[in-house]
Amino acid sequence: MKYNSIAIDGPSGAGKSTMAKRIAAELGYLYVDTGAIYRTLGLFALRNNADPGKWEDVEPLLPQISIRMDHGTDGLQHMYLGNEDVTEEIRRPEVSTAASKISAIPQVRAFLMDMQRDLSKQHHVVMDGRDIGTVVLPHANVKIFLTASAEDRAQRRYEELLSRGNDTDYETVLADILERDRRDMGREAAPLRQAEDAVLVDTTGNSLEESFRILLQVVRECFQ
Ligand code: DC
Repeated sequence: MKYNSIAIDGPSGAGKSTMAKRIAAELGYLYVDTGAIYRTLGLFALRNNADPGKWEDVEPLLPQISIRMDHGTDGLQHMYLGNEDVTEEIRRPEVSTAASKISAIPQVRAFLMDMQRDLSKQHHVVMDGRDIGTVVLPHANVKIFLTASAEDRAQRRYEELLSRGNDTDYETVLADILERDRRDMGREAAPLRQAEDAVLVDTTGNSLEESFRILLQVVRECFQ
């Protein structure tokens, strides 16, 4: 059977996961959050006192890691290190930074490639990340590049962190977003960029509902 895939790429805090989750629910597709996979690897590096920015530190860890993903009947993606559910822990700000650093290592990207592609061979997927439309699923049926101003993205991320009980301030979150943009776009291995055949959607100033309506329309038009 041939499975459909929808690729949603864009910078941190653009609302990719919220939108991808809703589109997946609307179409009955599997939602795959690839950032969570990099985050799990970043957490593993931190726990092993490895510098996630140094490939010499990270490469020897790869054969040791047991990373697993599971989509329960609730449709939510849970991440496991061995048998430990780390779904919540990988959202901590220091894990965000570790994930951004570790994702610049080509050996890491190659290591995670099959895991991501295999899912698209077994399910209709909505997959979000940084290089889904450009590298992981270059033949995706729909490609969307979702973005918003850095200030809008920082505000959303700030509210999300507060709701998770993190004690932080807006300026710190904005600085972190700008730094992650710089790293994710500036790296040599699969940098964040819009695929030539992706539809650009800028959600600056839009409500979640408006953004969702626009994205759903883009998806429907691509399938017509
Ligand atoms: O989407 P996120 O913020 O959870 O992703 C965490 C980091 O992982 C992000 O800084 C960049 C990296 N990443 C990547 O390089 N490629 C992907 N497909 C997904 C995430």
